[in-house]
Amino acid sequence: MTYDVITHEYDVVVVGGGGAGLRAVMGMAEKGLKVACLSKVFPTRSHTVAAQGGISAALGNMGEDDWRFHMYDTVKGSDWLGDQDAIEYMCREAIPAIIELEHFGVPFSRTAEGKIYQRAFGGMTTHYGEGTAQRTCAAADRTGHAILHTLYTQALKHKAEFFIEFIALDLLMDEDGSCVGVVAWNLNDGTIHVFRGHQTVLATGGYGRAYFSCTSAHTCTGDGNAMVLRAGLPLQDMEFVQFHPTGIYGAGCLITEGVRGEGGYLTNSEGERFMLRYAPSAKDLASRDVVSRSMTIEIREGRGVGPHKDHIHLHLEHLDPDIIHSRLPGIAETAKIFAGVDVTKEPIPVLPTVHYNMGGIPTNWRTEVVAPTQDDPNRVVPGLMAIGEAACVSVHGANRLGSNSLLDLVVFGRAAAIRAAETVVPGSKHKKLNGPSLDKALARFDGFRNANGSISTSDIRMNMQRTMQNHAAVFRTGDVLKEGCEKISAVFDSKKDVKVSDRSLVFNTDLVETLELDNLLGQAVATLYSAVNREESRGAHAREDFSERDDERWMKHTAIWVDEAGKTKIGYRPVIMRTLTDEVDVVPPKKRVY
Ligand code: FUM
Repeated sequence: MTYDVITHEYDVVVVGGGGAGLRAVMGMAEKGLKVACLSKVFPTRSHTVAAQGGISAALGNMGEDDWRFHMYDTVKGSDWLGDQDAIEYMCREAIPAIIELEHFGVPFSRTAEGKIYQRAFGGMTTHYGEGTAQRTCAAADRTGHAILHTLYTQALKHKAEFFIEFIALDLLMDEDGSCVGVVAWNLNDGTIHVFRGHQTVLATGGYGRAYFSCTSAHTCTGDGNAMVLRAGLPLQDMEFVQFHPTGIYGAGCLITEGVRGEGGYLTNSEGERFMLRYAPSAKDLASRDVVSRSMTIEIREGRGVGPHKDHIHLHLEHLDPDIIHSRLPGIAETAKIFAGVDVTKEPIPVLPTVHYNMGGIPTNWRTEVVAPTQDDPNRVVPGLMAIGEAACVSVHGANRLGSNSLLDLVVFGRAAAIRAAETVVPGSKHKKLNGPSLDKALARFDGFRNANGSISTSDIRMNMQRTMQNHAAVFRTGDVLKEGCEKISAVFDSKKDVKVSDRSLVFNTDLVETLELDNLLGQAVATLYSAVNREESRGAHAREDFSERDDERWMKHTAIWVDEAGKTKIGYRPVIMRTLTDEVDVVPPKKRVY
């Protein structure tokens, strides 16, 4: 079938209306750029709304702090896979970025003196690992909600234009290799749209839904990452998937690390605070990879709680109820609804749960997408930018510290606005689109719309999610990963036989889920093949057959390409071990202990 296409011309097109997308959109509109924001859900329903504990910045409101301490913690948290120029930028710019948020109207919790309230979070220290930092700025335990709503009103104030319930299908790539926009489907009326932009910014979030149990919304299908793969560009560091230590057992809902920041702690079936053994200094506030591994070991060794000894207890019943009601009201409600627990009286049953993707679309600190070649590991793809969880800047390296995610969204959303204003002349003409990318995008869409095979979308999705859950978990071995690669390739192939029952163009959720599944499958393949390839343990990638970090062989980023047939190609980019300014030194690699 042929489709009539409605064309729109903008200076910049942003795909995604979460925290990163909205911060970029408002900044671009403020700078006089004509900007369109496409979002598959109403912006304030984006997954940022679920972020609980807070956003890090060395404001020093609750004790001594310095952005250089924050940088040190982030490099160490990343297990030395983070790019230090980008980490310096994020930690330094955190301070003005948070003050801006305060001025935009984010309703942060306050200290008695009226300053922004800050709590302790995992891996956040003072004096390069000596003390505990209170660095995470919080709006109770609904910080993402507060930030998202504020940024949406700011974007409206600056007259950004929103295209809501538009599903981005593919990037429009010119024959010269530049990105010139995006093609999208309007779910409301079934029309197909081309959005031309001098810059296209992907702010499409992570792909947690590749797994069976995750804290991510059902919308977290990594659509931008998948569009990048289909454009023949690589993704980076996809083997690094973060398990948050405290997802509610059985339900997967997030219980914020802020609980442990306010004094909560974990115990095993013997009532032991086992984190004292694994991380004598940071204890329950070690980095997430360390806590998740420790919990998994406790369960494996028979010290899990519950009838099946398969989870862990998180206690906050010893905390003052006033603290729970003023600083953790959301998790008290969530624990009641999803675990039937009154947190003032009983512990919450928790289990490490997929939470965040450190990997994604490779970019430099200016948010421009890079695609390495033999001659140039940092080659910029003209016209394409990526921010937020979709991007791999890489500020999180092999493991992200809690509360550095909201920060990443805001700092690099702002950086994208700065870079777009530097590179785009407002109102400049768009060149004619050369090449087959529009036809290819529509052929894919039409192919799935008319898919008449024998397997349902939900069956293929379940096969993918179970494969990822069983074969790319907290601990990994070569054999388990190899078997996972074989299984995920078979699941990838099975999409040829998918059945879509609804042919309509208006609110066809069967087709939406199938397009999203197709997006997830490429990323699932990228994750497993990158994981089997990396023969070391670093951050969230814990190989039992290669239990040590191996800087000599592996201090490098994985770049992975996945073609239309699901075949992979792997290359590498060096980790950036230089700073942007002489205000701080590179943090040299050392053993990571908490
Ligand atoms: O635990 C949390 O509140 C999550 C925060 C984060 O992932 O940054």
